[in-house]
Amino acid sequence: GGRGPSPPIGEGDQDSDETFNPPTYTPPEPTPLPDPDVKRTLRATAATITLGPNATSQSWVYDGQYVGPELRVSEGDIVEVALQNDLPAVTTTHWHGIPLQNAMDGVPYVTQDPVTRGSSFTYTFRAEPPGTYFYHSHVGLQLDRGLLGPLIIEEDDPHIDYDREFTVIFDDYLNQPPEPLSDDGRDGMGGMGGMMGSDVRPPYTGLLADGRLPSNPRTLDVAEGERIRFRFVNAASATEFRTRLAGHQMTVSHVDGRPVDPVPVDEFVFGPGERYDAVVELTNPGAWQLRAAAVKGDESPARLDVRYGGHDGTPQAPDWGGRRLQYHDLHARDKISVSGSPDRVYDLTLSRAGRSYTWLIDGQAYPNAEPLDIREGEHVRFRLRNHSPVTHPMHLHGHFFRVGDALMDTIRVPGHMGQVSLDFRADNPGNWLFHCHNLYHLESGMARVIRYV
Ligand code: C2O
Ligand code: CU
Repeated sequence: GGRGPSPPIGEGDQDSDETFNPPTYTPPEPTPLPDPDVKRTLRATAATITLGPNATSQSWVYDGQYVGPELRVSEGDIVEVALQNDLPAVTTTHWHGIPLQNAMDGVPYVTQDPVTRGSSFTYTFRAEPPGTYFYHSHVGLQLDRGLLGPLIIEEDDPHIDYDREFTVIFDDYLNQPPEPLSDDGRDGMGGMGGMMGSDVRPPYTGLLADGRLPSNPRTLDVAEGERIRFRFVNAASATEFRTRLAGHQMTVSHVDGRPVDPVPVDEFVFGPGERYDAVVELTNPGAWQLRAAAVKGDESPARLDVRYGGHDGTPQAPDWGGRRLQYHDLHARDKISVSGSPDRVYDLTLSRAGRSYTWLIDGQAYPNAEPLDIREGEHVRFRLRNHSPVTHPMHLHGHFFRVGDALMDTIRVPGHMGQVSLDFRADNPGNWLFHCHNLYHLESGMARVIRYV
């Protein structure tokens, strides 16, 4: 079908040439897939959600609930999800981490026109590879309003032993609509990185585990001797979490859904867009808190409780410290398709434009930014250097990339000249967003399109 107009260009103090017109994009015609094994509808609506006693919030969510329903499918399933837009605004759904066909990726103006009020769009994809993923709106600040949910692709052959599993979504919480509203009901003003001009700042005020405030934690009643697999998703807009279960070590088994050689740790840190799976052996009966604290400051961390062995007293909080997972501890168990020297290298700085709240990749703010061109089959390397003082969790759509000996789709680039080199095989033609998963940075320009030419 025809493409919509290119997004409006952000007004304000972007560094780039005022006369530059952002390119328009057309995804390759998707290859038809067999009949679906799983059919679902997701309805995006406004709803009042409950976060705890006396704590409700006016939000935008899927199927009337926050967190959105868990979609759980089997490896190889053909999945068909009809997104029904009952919001007072345009929307899309993105399937974070899944290397699906470009036209199904849910990026407004890049892979599809945004879905208008009252209409629907059907996404179809093959569920592979297995792993822990999530889905979320890719329009404006809608993810921060609660349009998100977990998506689990179960593996035929897990490489770890466990008895039970729990998905745990960590998020940050707004007590007011994100400002300024890019998605306040005006069709066509879908909200794109950069179009909001300057001053998109996070007003978030609290942290949540599975949609609950720490004053209202979920309790997992488990049994001594069990091995529990946790699937942790960081769905926050602006929070890096450090995560720890009191009284236990965790053995990290998967990163961004990809299996790794198991690493026992006391705690790990993860950024917006990252997923970590970890197995815990229940050999220390008691009542324990699992906490995810903002990496800076330990004020009212997101929390859930784990208890077994007849202990029903006040759950014990963890002490921070001990062995923390590092990226270099991670060794992929999948075959890695990139090694040796790359066919194409991009050196990309991550920075903030002067005094304004505009975030840049290599000096340009999306959408007023040139695409990064690559060719199918190439081994591509991005060398990222962070010239700003804050961490940027950088996410690539449509591909897994290699950092060191691990595969992932989102990586934190530390502030103050932190450097990361990532490599991927250009094996999924189309136009793919590469962006900071801090939603406020994304909305303020920190994105580029990777274009197959
Ligand atoms: Cu969760 Cu563009 O991504
Ligand atoms: Cu960022």
